[in-house]
Amino acid sequence: MLFGITGDLAHKMLLPALYRLTAAGRLDLPIVGVAKTDLDLDGLRERARDACGGVRDAAFDRLAGNLRLVAGDYGDPATFTRLRDEVEGMGFLVHYLAVPPALFAPVAEGLAGVGLNRDARLVVEKPFGHDLRSARELNDRLLRHFDEDHLRRVDHFLGKEPVEDLMVFRFANMLLEPIWNRSYIRSVQITMAEDFDVRDRGAFYDANGTVRDVVQNHLLQLLALLAMDPPPSTDARATLDEKWRVLRAVKTIDPADVVRGQYAGYQDTEGVRPGSTTETFVALRAYIDNWRWAGVPWCIRSGKAMPMTDLEVVAELRRPPVTMFDDAQAPAGPNLIRFRLQPDAGVTFDVLAKEPGRQRTRPVPVSVDFTKELGPMDAAYERILSDAVSGDARRFLRFDLVEESWRIVAPVLDMTEPPLPYEPGTWGPAPAAEIPPGGWHKISNTFD
Ligand code: BG6
Repeated sequence: MLFGITGDLAHKMLLPALYRLTAAGRLDLPIVGVAKTDLDLDGLRERARDACGGVRDAAFDRLAGNLRLVAGDYGDPATFTRLRDEVEGMGFLVHYLAVPPALFAPVAEGLAGVGLNRDARLVVEKPFGHDLRSARELNDRLLRHFDEDHLRRVDHFLGKEPVEDLMVFRFANMLLEPIWNRSYIRSVQITMAEDFDVRDRGAFYDANGTVRDVVQNHLLQLLALLAMDPPPSTDARATLDEKWRVLRAVKTIDPADVVRGQYAGYQDTEGVRPGSTTETFVALRAYIDNWRWAGVPWCIRSGKAMPMTDLEVVAELRRPPVTMFDDAQAPAGPNLIRFRLQPDAGVTFDVLAKEPGRQRTRPVPVSVDFTKELGPMDAAYERILSDAVSGDARRFLRFDLVEESWRIVAPVLDMTEPPLPYEPGTWGPAPAAEIPPGGWHKISNTFD
């Protein structure tokens, strides 16, 4: 069941992913689209074709043959009765809700009204709540009809292969783990930059801002994967438990450790309220109060209208205790470990080497481009959709993780002073540069 099949997310992400899964022979199931639409089934198939780039091939024909449509209003019980008739005898059902969050609970209630919450799993897209209180309210309403084992909260970042590579890099190799702690790491910097503005999402964005849009979910999940202890086993629960343990140890963010920004011109966007104080950029320091990380700043920055589109983590190592090769007053840069996640994936170590002919060092990169070495990767939604069908919970958000994340960012959500202005195409307002000790390390969105 795909609720919102005529919506934006289905068009941009879900239908293309369903097509690729079908083409790869990994999915061949009835897909019942539900939407408030005037389209008939043929119209929906054409719309789906358009979403898949206009393809005409056997894989698309198979996907189109699997499509069904139940058109109707989510507030009308008759929609759910028709749905029940449509899925009669289909066995276990997956209800994927690609609809606005305000509809999550009404749809869950509509499904339960006709018994479609039995033998079924409910999958909801982000955002899950607007703050801690609303997340709890929403969760309570959903739990009345679907228990935690049958609920999946999507954070599509967890479907990205390069994000999963972080865990593999950490726990399949012995290289990093001995130094991956406060004794060797001075700071960690996570940057998620986008070189485009809020585009046509003014109304959505203005009601949310950067912290709700990407920090509370995507970037705190990255932090958890990077900072957690090794899970004791490979089952989903073990990983989720470790993520929870580390998020539990993240201190609630102090507004003094936060710089919020808003790009010039944002207020002219359709859907943005005049005088809006919504941030389109944030830079902050988080601290993790445990033995591994106490005192190490985890610096996160993200924004729209940045100089480039890039998702990258840079861990800065402490310097050797004695300077042997450089001028003690002006030592060369520290060692850096860079995890590159987007646009391409890989790892780079910045190590120091001797400059030929001189008695001093210079950082040189030692890089692996995963895409070049290992070949192309699945897109996030292919993995999210396969997991939604198989039931594997590890790439979804358990509610206790959602709760911790809202707790961590709560004081930032309450900040009332207007964000500082910045020019599109820059790295945010000037004070953001002071968030990490010694400033942000230069990042680049290409390996070259
Ligand atoms: C979404 C945010 O969750 O993630 C967007 O709402 C953001 O604002 C997007 O652009 C980034 O995801 P991706 O997969 O395109 O990097």
